[in-house]
Amino acid sequence: VVIGIDLGTSGVRVVAVNLQGAIAVQATRSYQLLTPQPGWTEQNPDDWIAATFQALTEVVQQLEDYQILGLGLSGQMHGMVPLDAVGNVLRPAILWNDQRTGKAVTTIETIVPRQELIQRTGNPAITGFQLPKIVWLRESEPQAFSQMHHVLLPKDYLGYVLTGEIATEPSDASGVGCLNLGDRTWDLDILTALDLDPQLFPQVIDSTAVVGKLKPEIANITGLPAGLPIIAGGGDNAAAAIGLGISSTNCDRGSLSIGTSGVIFVPLAQPIPEPEGRVHLFCHADGGYHLLGVTLAASGSLRWYRDTFFPDFSYDELTEWASSAPPGSGGVIFLPHLAGERSPFLDSEARGAWLNLSLAHSKAEMTRAVLEGVAYSLRAALEVIEAIAPTHEFVATGGGSRSRLWLQIITDVLGVNLAKPMLTEGAAYGAALLALVGCDVCPNLETVFQILPSTEEYTQPNSHAVYTDAFHRFIAIYAALKSIN
Ligand code: XUL
Repeated sequence: VVIGIDLGTSGVRVVAVNLQGAIAVQATRSYQLLTPQPGWTEQNPDDWIAATFQALTEVVQQLEDYQILGLGLSGQMHGMVPLDAVGNVLRPAILWNDQRTGKAVTTIETIVPRQELIQRTGNPAITGFQLPKIVWLRESEPQAFSQMHHVLLPKDYLGYVLTGEIATEPSDASGVGCLNLGDRTWDLDILTALDLDPQLFPQVIDSTAVVGKLKPEIANITGLPAGLPIIAGGGDNAAAAIGLGISSTNCDRGSLSIGTSGVIFVPLAQPIPEPEGRVHLFCHADGGYHLLGVTLAASGSLRWYRDTFFPDFSYDELTEWASSAPPGSGGVIFLPHLAGERSPFLDSEARGAWLNLSLAHSKAEMTRAVLEGVAYSLRAALEVIEAIAPTHEFVATGGGSRSRLWLQIITDVLGVNLAKPMLTEGAAYGAALLALVGCDVCPNLETVFQILPSTEEYTQPNSHAVYTDAFHRFIAIYAALKSIN
């Protein structure tokens, strides 16, 4: 077997995958999210490590006679783990969803013009990325900054603890904010302009390359074999895409995840940024690139709706009501911007709304409008992506994809085919697949993709036109609300 780890935001997931691509065993552990001030999100790297060791130990105990051949890393992107000269963590990690860096973003874009950042790194300066956190640290905690010798992403810190080696790989490194996408190394011009020492940043190796070998003391704690090759892996979105067989050598297929947030992932052979940076451009873990569109409240909107108004009803009952309303919800439109919006509006001040309610409407229309509103916000991101990379088929994952009605609505609104995969094991699974190449079980990712089970069933659009008018009103309503808020 090979092992994959996903160091997530709510917890860590460890899977062991056999050489046929099936999950042999798995374990999860959760950890605390620290919110020292409103809008700040942090985690204690010691908590990550303790939870990961526990989950690894549980997996190893269940594996008994299997031979463990390698371990691949993946995890939440964009976080900052500052280390001193001897590798001690200088302060809690600042996470991807932290909002403290508004001023640092402005500082960066004053020094390096936004268009130049987009051309070189694929993205403008974005609040959640690691680079603004480093600039924030220099301004707000100068003592910690002056002691900082290395700055790592979450999964790369885990790799360092496991091996003693400091490295990163392109899929996660491209979410820092200063990786040159053309040559997949740190952009020295940007770092010089910002007066940041390039030595702070880890060496960038391939996603399937070996970071180092497992230290004997960690082997003793977890039961893993000492010397086990630890593979660099990928950021959680890229690793999850690998687990679904989404490859930048076959760009016809993307993935669509309907989780708390909704994520559209479209592979690209070449790094083509969205001219205004309205969707992200990152490196894929297979040597190519990908666009990423994120709507912040997808299943999150439905959860909020149920918890607020119908806590005693199941999601199945809610979708039953929704199915009794006609497509377009009798004119009712819901804006799912309950947590602001990322793609394509990049507007943390955006807020949710219901529009066009009348006495004729009931919970059927209001519920359906929530499902449709999420689909409209996915379409808003997809339209920006499609201008660069037209994609007609998506593999659908995430909790929301279990609802047939919601899948049909999304298919109809987006006008694309949706395929349901047999196996949706997420980033940990993809990290394990990257390890299959890294420890030489498979010669390349193409051979790994051949062992993946194929997709199960398709949903095809049949009432795209009905929704197009409503979608245009959705966009107009967003603009109108923005002008009065
Ligand atoms: C991607 C992003 C999130 C994190 C969550 O840009 O911010 O998907 O990777 O883990």
